[in-house]
Amino acid sequence: MTAPRHFLDLSDFTGSTLRTILDAGKAMKARRRTPEAAKDRPLDGRVIALVFEQPSLRTRMSFDVGVRELGGSPLMVTGKEIELGEREAIEDTARVMSRYVDGIMIRILKHDALKELARHATVPVINGLTKTSHPCQVMADLMTFEERLGSIKGRTIAWTGDSNNVLASWVHAAARLDFTLRIATPPELAPSNELVAWAKGEGAAVELTSDAFEAVDGADCILTDTWVSMGDGEKERRHNLLQPYQVNSKLLKAASRDAIFMHCLPAHRGEEVTAEVMDGPQSAVFDEAENRLHAQKGVLAWCFDAIQA
Ligand code: CP
Ligand code: NVA
Repeated sequence: MTAPRHFLDLSDFTGSTLRTILDAGKAMKARRRTPEAAKDRPLDGRVIALVFEQPSLRTRMSFDVGVRELGGSPLMVTGKEIELGEREAIEDTARVMSRYVDGIMIRILKHDALKELARHATVPVINGLTKTSHPCQVMADLMTFEERLGSIKGRTIAWTGDSNNVLASWVHAAARLDFTLRIATPPELAPSNELVAWAKGEGAAVELTSDAFEAVDGADCILTDTWVSMGDGEKERRHNLLQPYQVNSKLLKAASRDAIFMHCLPAHRGEEVTAEVMDGPQSAVFDEAENRLHAQKGVLAWCFDAIQA
C-alpha cells in the first residue's frame, strides 16, 4: 500500500510542490461555476471527516464547501464526540477512522496528536490548525498575495504582533518560496528558538526585530493576527506587550505604497488592527478568507492524487 499524502506542514514540501498545489487551486477558482468545473471531481464518492476540537468559521465552511465541490461528502465531527487521545489510543482512532472515511481534516491544538494521527492513518490527514502551525491558511495567503501583487519570489513580507501558528507557517513558506520575511514581536513573545534555528538551517531569509516600523519599512505586505490565540492565557499581559505592534494607518504608510494588509481572521478592530486599515483599500482580508476555499481545493486535489507533484 502506498503512503497516504498528508498535508501537515508547509515545511514538509518543496517549493515546487507548493507551487503546483497553488496553481491547481487557482485553476479551479477560474473554472468555478462554469461547465468546465465538472472535471474537478477528484473526491467523487469519497467521504472526508472534518474534525474540530476548537471553534471555526472559515476552516469549517471552506472545507465543507470545497469537499462538496470536488464531488465528495463532508462528515462533521466535534472533538467532544471522539475525545481524541482520551477514550482510546490515537493510533486506534486513526485505524478505525481510516476504515470508514477516505480522508481526515482536523483542527486540534496538540501538534503531536495530529502527527500521531497521521502516522497511523491509512488515508490522507490535513492540518486544519494546531497550536504550532496553520498551513492551509498560509496557502490561501500566498494565493491572495500573488493575485494582488504577482510572484512572491524576492518580495518582502512583514509580520507584526504575536508569534503564533500562522507565523510559523509563514516561516516555513519563506524557506520554500524564496521571499524575505521580517518579523516584529515583543522579545517576550518572539518565535521559538527551534523555529528560528530551523529557518536558519534552511537558509530562509527570516529577519527578527522588536520594532514594528523596522519590519514594515518598504514591505510589500503587512500581516498580523489576534493577540490572543486559541489556548492562550494571560490576555491582559499580551495586550500590554502587543499594543506597539498594532497595524494602524501610520504603520501602513511606512510600507511600500502598494502594500497590502492581510489577517487570517477573526480580527479585533481596535486591537491588533484599526478599523481604518482593516476596512481600507489596502486590505485583502476578505479575498484571503475566500481563498481558503480555492487553495484548499488544490490541497485536496493533491492529497487525492489528482495532481502530480
Ligand atoms: N482563519 C481561520 O482559520 O478561521 P477559523 O478559525 O474561523 O476557521
Ligand atoms: N492564531 C489564531 C488563528 C485563528 C484562525 C489562533 O490560533 O487562534
